[in-house]
Amino acid sequence: MSNVEQLKTVKFYSGEETPLEMHKVRVVQKLNLLPVEERKKAIFEAGFNTFLLQNQDVFLDMLTDSGTNAMSDNQIAAMSVADDSYAGSASYTKLEKAVSEVFNQKYFLPVHQGRAAEHIISQVFVKKGMVVPMNYHFTTTMAHIQLAGGTVAEIFTDEALKIKSDFPFKGNMDIDKLNNIIDEWGADKVAYIRLEAGTNLIGGQPFSMQNLREVSAIAKKHGIKLLMDTSLINENLYFIKTREEGYKDKPLKEILHEMLSYTDFSYFSGRKVSCTRGGGICTNIHEIYMQMRDLVPLFEGFLTYGGMSVREIEAMAVGLYETLDFNVISHSPSFIKYLVEALDKKGIPVITPAGGLGCHLDAGQFLSHLPQEQYPAGALAGALFIASGIRGMERGTISSIRDENGKDIPADVELLRLAFPRRVFTLSQIKYVEDRVQWLYDNRHLVGGLEWVEEPPVLRFFVGKLRPIGDWAEKLQAKFREDFGDSL
Ligand code: F0G
Repeated sequence: MSNVEQLKTVKFYSGEETPLEMHKVRVVQKLNLLPVEERKKAIFEAGFNTFLLQNQDVFLDMLTDSGTNAMSDNQIAAMSVADDSYAGSASYTKLEKAVSEVFNQKYFLPVHQGRAAEHIISQVFVKKGMVVPMNYHFTTTMAHIQLAGGTVAEIFTDEALKIKSDFPFKGNMDIDKLNNIIDEWGADKVAYIRLEAGTNLIGGQPFSMQNLREVSAIAKKHGIKLLMDTSLINENLYFIKTREEGYKDKPLKEILHEMLSYTDFSYFSGRKVSCTRGGGICTNIHEIYMQMRDLVPLFEGFLTYGGMSVREIEAMAVGLYETLDFNVISHSPSFIKYLVEALDKKGIPVITPAGGLGCHLDAGQFLSHLPQEQYPAGALAGALFIASGIRGMERGTISSIRDENGKDIPADVELLRLAFPRRVFTLSQIKYVEDRVQWLYDNRHLVGGLEWVEEPPVLRFFVGKLRPIGDWAEKLQAKFREDFGDSL
C-alpha cells in the first residue's frame, strides 16, 4: 500500500484531537473583514440572501464547496500544458484515462457542470409518469426530473433527518421502502434508482457499501438501472474507509472501484470531486453511453470537451487521481468534525455525526422562538453574516417551494450550511467561526424572522430578496458593538 493510501493521522503529544493541514499554502488571497455596520448594510442590500452578497464584503465564504476548492500545485502545472483543440484534444485523452483508472469506467461524457449531466440523464431516461427513487433529492436533480415529467421519491432511513445521531451512514437508502416503491409503481415505471454519495441536503452524510450492495441487488433483480451521483464521492469514500467494518486496510482505489462496480452509470460535478469545474457522466455499458452520447454536442459542446475549457480538463484529470490520496480526502471531513464537535460540546444544535461538505447548524432549534413561516434558516444566515462576515447558505424553507395553493411547503429541516471548500481554510479561521457562532447563540433571542420582498417563481433561493421583520438587525448590531467595543 502506498504511503498516501494509509489511514494515518498525526497524534498530538498533548492528547488533543487537532486536525492538521497536510499541505502548505503557496498562493494566498487577501480577505476583507468589514466592520459590523457595513456588514449589516451589505446584507440589507443583498435582501438577506447570502447568494446576493458581493464576495469582497465576505470574510469567510462558506456558501458552498462548489468551484471554490483549492487546487494542488500539480493541477495548476497541468493547466499550463493544455492542448487547445476543438476535437481530439490530448488533454481530453488524459481525462478519459483518469476516469478509467480512478473510477474504472470505460465510457465518459464530459459536461459543463453537474446539473448538465442531470439534464441529459433525465431527458433520456425519465418519461412522464415515471418515478426516480433516491436516498434524498438535490435541488437541481429534482428540478430536472420534474422538468422531464417524472416524480422524485425520497426513501431515506429513519435516522436521516434526526439532527442528533451517532448513526454513521445517514445517507443510506431504506430497503423496505425501496421494495414498496417498486411494487407500488411497477419496475417499468422506475426510470432508475439514484443514490447520492455524501448526501448533500441532509448534511453531507454517506451511505455504506453494505447499503449500496443491497440497493444494487434489488435494482438487478427488477432490471432497473442504478445511477450514482458521485459529486461528493471523496467524502463518502473517506467515511467507508474510516467507519465501515472491513475497509480500514483496503486501498482507496479498490474501495472506489467496488463502489462504482455496483452502478450502471454515474455522474459528477467537477466543481466538487476534482476541485475544478465541469463534470461528466461515466458508465461501462455501451448502450447507456450511446443513448446519451448525441445530446452532449447538442447541449454542451463536442465530445472531447463538453463545455469545459481544456485547462480545466487537465486539472480535472489530476484532481481525479488526487481523490486516491488519503491526505487529500481526509482534510475536509477532519476540519468539519473539529467544528461540529466543538459546537456540539457547547450545546449548540448541529447535525451529528459530522459529515462531509460542511457543518450544518439546526436553525429550527437555534432560533426555536421563530415559526417556520418566518424562515429561521434564512434569518440565521443573515444574523451570522452581521455577527461575523461569514457567508453560509440557507437550506430550509426558503430553498423549498410553494404548493399549488401558493402555500410554503415547509422544509423537513431548517439548516444553515457552513460549507468547507476543500483545503481552503486554516484552523484559526475555523476557531473564529466557532467563536462567532457561540456569540450568536448566546444572543439568539435578539434574532427575528424574515419576510419576502421579491419572490421568484422557480429556485427562489438563488435570487429572491427578503427583509427582517422588525428592527432585530439593528439590535444585533448594537449588541455586537457593546460586547466587542471597536473591534471588527
Ligand atoms: N449533485 C450534488 C450532490 C450536488 O451537491 C450538486 C451541486 C450537484 C449535483 C449539481 O452540480 O453545481 O456542478 O451543477 N451542489 C452545489 C452546492 C451547487 O452548493 O451544494 P453543479
